Amino acid sequence: MSRLAAIGTGVIGNGWIARALAQGWDVVAFDPDPKAPERTRSFIDNAWPSLTQLGLAPDAKPERLTFVATIEEAISGADLIQENVPERLPLKQEILAAIDAAAAPDTIIGSSTSGFKPTDLQQQCQQAPGRVIVAHPFNPVYLLPLVELVGGEATQPEQMAAAQERYQSLAMRPLVVRREIEGHIADRLMEALWREALHLVNDGVATTEEIDAAVVYGCGLRWPLMGTFLTFHLAGGESGMRHMLEQFGPALKLPWTKLEAPELTDELIDKVVEGCEHQAAGRSVATLDKRRDDFLVELLEVVHKYWPEAEGLKGRI
Ligand SMILES: NC(=O)c1ccc[n+]([C@@H]2O[C@H](COP(=O)([O-])OP(=O)(O)OC[C@H]3O[C@@H](n4cnc5c(N)ncnc54)[C@H](O)[C@@H]3O)[C@@H](O)[C@H]2O)c1
Repeated sequence: MSRLAAIGTGVIGNGWIARALAQGWDVVAFDPDPKAPERTRSFIDNAWPSLTQLGLAPDAKPERLTFVATIEEAISGADLIQENVPERLPLKQEILAAIDAAAAPDTIIGSSTSGFKPTDLQQQCQQAPGRVIVAHPFNPVYLLPLVELVGGEATQPEQMAAAQERYQSLAMRPLVVRREIEGHIADRLMEALWREALHLVNDGVATTEEIDAAVVYGCGLRWPLMGTFLTFHLAGGESGMRHMLEQFGPALKLPWTKLEAPELTDELIDKVVEGCEHQAAGRSVATLDKRRDDFLVELLEVVHKYWPEAEGLKGRI
């Protein structure tokens, strides 16, 4: 039986907890917010039907979760420690140093950070800084298999290999990032799209709903199977990527895109928020979460069918 220590139980910490429980792990959690245990239990109640549909480990049950009052209690005896506190570097450095000081030296400590580099996270760790790595998941963590693993200056190859094995045993698809950069890989891509989307709203070209339609009915439909590169390889016809680059390469010089984010003025914030509220049409985030989860469960089945690489995760995500 394996045990996860979850430090910080917001949206992402709860996602890790639900994933680990579904894989039959024990979970010990710490969060200073007194409402955290109640919030987590209700989160697991909402996630459990989708996890059940995907396939639970034989001895998986929500009761394997306990909340404790200190970080030290949470990490004692853990096989994997996952830090999910708010995205503030000094806070993460302080918490990771406390975890590193108290944890067995060979236990992997993954940080869910969306943007910070592991070398910066390792800064104040005294005992075994190399095992403090970035392990960046995607929301909802209990359904999406990708975890980006990034080592820092102190990290040894054996520690990355151990981390890969740990996250695979949570039925995840680890992607080892070769060099540390802010935002890792996927968030760099998502932020580029996000900046352009904000420009399009700011310039009055499209509403939030119209931009989402462009993704949902167009480019987004292809991405679950092939990603950007293989999709564009097909866009070049028989000659593939070479012809694609000849044909569309010049457009890169125009350029179509703006790269720098627009200023987040009150007017732009209002447009974006009101646009999203209009799209939600009175439906709560919980209702939309449920709809997304149902969709993702079916989509994962389709990905498994067409993408043999994901086959090993079937029924275990
Ligand atoms: N939200 C996302 O889509 C997403 C995706 C991937 C990664 N992340 C990363 O995950 C991390 C957490 O983000 P989130 O969206 O879950 O934030 P959140 O605000 O939902 O949750 C943060 C939790 O940390 C707790 N916390 C605060 N101080 C703490 C402390 N000293 N010790 C332990 N817990 C403490 C809070 O009570 C809260 O429950 C961030 O680093 C973020 O970049 C977020």
